[in-house]
Amino acid sequence: MTDQPPRVLSGIQPTGELHLGNYFGAIVQHLALPADFPGECLFFIADFHALTTVRDPVFLRQMVRDVATTYLALGLDPSRAILFRQSDVPEVCELTWLLMCVTNTGLLERAHAYKDKVAHGLEASMGLFSYPVLMAADILVYDSSLVPIGKDQVQHVEMAQDMATHFNATFGTEGVGDQPPTQFLRRPEWKLSKAPYVPGLDGKKMSKSYGNTIPIFATGKVLKKLVGRIVTDSTPLGQPLTVEGDNVLALLDLFLDEGRREQVRSWYRAASRDGQPFGYGHAKQYLAEVMETRFADAHRRRETLIADPSQVDRVLEDGARRARQLATPVLERCRVACGLR
Ligand code: ADP
Ligand code: TRP
Repeated sequence: MTDQPPRVLSGIQPTGELHLGNYFGAIVQHLALPADFPGECLFFIADFHALTTVRDPVFLRQMVRDVATTYLALGLDPSRAILFRQSDVPEVCELTWLLMCVTNTGLLERAHAYKDKVAHGLEASMGLFSYPVLMAADILVYDSSLVPIGKDQVQHVEMAQDMATHFNATFGTEGVGDQPPTQFLRRPEWKLSKAPYVPGLDGKKMSKSYGNTIPIFATGKVLKKLVGRIVTDSTPLGQPLTVEGDNVLALLDLFLDEGRREQVRSWYRAASRDGQPFGYGHAKQYLAEVMETRFADAHRRRETLIADPSQVDRVLEDGARRARQLATPVLERCRVACGLR
């Protein structure tokens, strides 16, 4: 296991329609990676993880397709990145078991995400409890070197680092003298996505669980209605709008370049745009326009993909094949390491 190529991996759960928080917080960074990164890039749809919370099979199937379609419509090039469905690579489940056998329950009991979800009333199932082990297997089974994530996932990747180190130490030899320690599993690094904080309609973090999202592909009346719900203060039309802390402006900033941002701020301060009154209603309408323009091409690609679902199927099948090719030798190494072969 020397000179391993760099390899990036990240996953996203198919638990709801993808929204602007997911787009600016994760997807934009994922889409940019294959152009710059010198090694392979793997992105997968974490349907096994989704099963820890989703109980509706029709919904799950739909969301898996929706996430794949969204990534492709937004421009992920499947010839440069491997896009696949987690459950199409069963090797990940076997590695999960091997890791579980060397993972102390105490480590998992400390997981913030688990404690949080149980505190919010989710059933403390074995799946939910073991979530970080499955996530570690996701990462380790492809010899991933770099995992781009949001802040909330750092602890999970640190657990994956611990599990790799512990597996290696349990079944390998400690480094002696010039000899490096045995490395069956590669220790991954995490990288915080340079993600802005995307506020939801109510100003709290945009999240499926808070029901405050703007879906990436919302358009027309639906989008208008959604942006109409963005919470602002009650400055009346004709008075300067609040720049600091305004949710509409925070969302607009994500789409605009520096020059445009300044221009919108000048409209806010003057309560006027091109000689016409400018209030929060106008700012919201502008946000809807900017958003529709940004996603117009992606929208058309999405329509094409929806009209011919076999394209998405082919990408996922090919992705699964390529991902399995990477996973098979890693799993085999681990089977040998622990005495199963
Ligand atoms: P949700 O909170 O809607 O369930 P997820 O937890 O599935 O979203 O997030 C998937 C990815 O999108 C993660 O990398 C996460 O950091 C990012 N993300 C989600 N919401 C936001 C947000 N409001 N601001 C920035 N990034 C976000
Ligand atoms: N837990 C991640 C999330 O909710 C999704 C995920 C599953 C993941 N396995 C992963 C992310 C492996 C990075 C690497 O956002």
